[in-house]
Amino acid sequence: MRIIVTGGAGFIGSHVADAYAAAGHDVLVVDSLWEHGGGRRENVRSGIAFVPMDVRDEALGRVFAEFKPEVISHHAAQHSVAISVRDPIYDAQVNVLGLLGVLESARGSGARKVIFASSGATFGTPDRLPITDSTPQRPTSPYGISKMVGEHYLRFYRDTYGLDFTALRYGNVYGPRQDPNGEAGVISIFIGRFLARRSVRIDWDGEQTRDYVFAADVARANLAALDRGSGEACVIGTGVKTSVNEIYRALVEISGFEAPIERAPQRPGDARDAQFDAARARAQLGWSPATALADGIRQTYGYFERLAAER
Ligand SMILES: NC(=O)c1ccc[n+]([C@@H]2O[C@H](COP(=O)([O-])OP(=O)(O)OC[C@H]3O[C@@H](n4cnc5c(N)ncnc54)[C@H](O)[C@@H]3O)[C@@H](O)[C@H]2O)c1
Repeated sequence: MRIIVTGGAGFIGSHVADAYAAAGHDVLVVDSLWEHGGGRRENVRSGIAFVPMDVRDEALGRVFAEFKPEVISHHAAQHSVAISVRDPIYDAQVNVLGLLGVLESARGSGARKVIFASSGATFGTPDRLPITDSTPQRPTSPYGISKMVGEHYLRFYRDTYGLDFTALRYGNVYGPRQDPNGEAGVISIFIGRFLARRSVRIDWDGEQTRDYVFAADVARANLAALDRGSGEACVIGTGVKTSVNEIYRALVEISGFEAPIERAPQRPGDARDAQFDAARARAQLGWSPATALADGIRQTYGYFERLAAER
């Protein structure tokens, strides 16, 4: 199958592109290598074609028309909640207008389906946990709003033009290649600090929890969505709540280094807990997470350790 992965030089998108290529598909990555994103040219493996381009570029339609993808996995985005709060116009330009550029190009090139990297952020702060696919979506950030808007556009294109979709609403994704200098991704940020033998900052009391899902498991959901989950939006999470303190202790054990802790107050708007029930993904995609957090953290630590040794 011919597949375009937008954002395929980034953290999650590169795992998705790798999984498609490993399954024998013909993959083209379109990525602008945005300076505040996790995109790196070296994340695109040899054998995978690469076009450096912004998804808002008018030339996108020509790239699609030439490659003639059957499916597009759309991962290019402004991925930061904080940036979306500071600059909601930029967020909407990339996450809404960029998606529309992809949908128009997909339609124009005769593609069958778009797989969309949506987010648990579309749910905002729910009344109760776990978040399921029937939890009302009440996003509390421009980023969450633009991802939710994206899901509505997908439905419109399916109903109006027959362009199929699956939206995958990720929890907190972690794994190799996640930017350790970013503002999201406590696991990779902590690993960077542990490897440098530096202190880590723990906000609040460290007992706040998130649902961490391993990038390779997310890539498998993208593989399953190639021919399943028609017209569905599915939560992708593990159902397991893990606190910042637990991640800290796991890294002390793996590294043998007791990183000094800097205490900081709760960040404004930070939720206490997050947990996702992926029942629809199980039913519609046949997907369930396969990587226990301890294994995933160990693999991620090993990746960054090797990277540091190569430098
Ligand atoms: N990391 C998470 O936990 C998480 C959770 C929910 C949803 N998501 C979504 O998954 C997708 C991938 O996120 P990530 O964490 O891998 O971030 P990332 O920054 O590593 O990847 C995003 C990629 O998109 C590219 N990009 C940004 N703007 C672009 C533009 N205008 N045109 C073309 N390419 C552009 C970047 O260069 C980067 O390679 C995003 O859509 C994000 O919103 C991520």
